[in-house]
Amino acid sequence: MNPFDKIKAARSSFPEVDLTRGRSIAYSRSTTCRIMELIDGNGQGNVHGGTIMRMVDEAAGVVAMKHSQRPCVTARVDRFDFLAPAYIGNMVSVNCALNYVGRTSMEVGVEVIAEDLITGELRHIASSSIIYVALNEQGKPTPVPPLAPADQEEAERIEQASIRRQHMQKLDEELAQWRAQNLAKKIP
Ligand SMILES: CC(C)(COP(=O)(O)OP(=O)(O)OC[C@H]1O[C@@H](n2cnc3c(N)ncnc32)[C@H](O)[C@@H]1OP(=O)(O)O)[C@@H](O)C(=O)NCCC(=O)NCCS
Repeated sequence: MNPFDKIKAARSSFPEVDLTRGRSIAYSRSTTCRIMELIDGNGQGNVHGGTIMRMVDEAAGVVAMKHSQRPCVTARVDRFDFLAPAYIGNMVSVNCALNYVGRTSMEVGVEVIAEDLITGELRHIASSSIIYVALNEQGKPTPVPPLAPADQEEAERIEQASIRRQHMQKLDEELAQWRAQNLAKKIP
């Protein structure tokens, strides 16, 4: 079987997921690490931002897939803050955990750490927050299990993400409304 048929066959039917049972943040939390090599560099001799972005998207996608037990697509990179450079030879660790779960979407919070394994120096080099959507066998958005906070701290993390999400949706709506009102006027 060629690889494309193999992928298609594997995506033709998924196991049932109990949507009434919440899953914890710990259940899907993950860390991915890799040593930065020459191929990861940019013109300044540091690590290319795109290398970090790809690692982040892959690592955070794993969290969404583990929580939902479904293939997931990246719907939005809500934030991506580069705080400091990473260097060739550093070990870059991408720590990811769910911030929030909607009906079919999941927001993953990401912290990226660069470590000099010789000196032991640790640097927080980037933060991000990415929204994924779980898909069913037809490639359409599908419901995911709720997120069950383990303690007060996790409940507050979820609540804050929920507020950010509401603001983001409101801003999207306001901008769409503005475009509909203002850009329509320019059409003769
Ligand atoms: C993401 C995608 C599946 C959403 O499809 P859609 O028909 O707009 O889905 P819906 O309107 O039903 O929205 C589904 C969920 O996604 C959320 N969503 C969709 N687009 C979003 C965006 N740009 N930002 C944030 N959330 C988004 C909705 O709020 C909704 O969340 P909820 O179910 O938790 O309330 C579709 O836009 C898509 O396939 N995009 C391309 C994805 C891709 O190729 N990514 C890169 C490679 S992985």
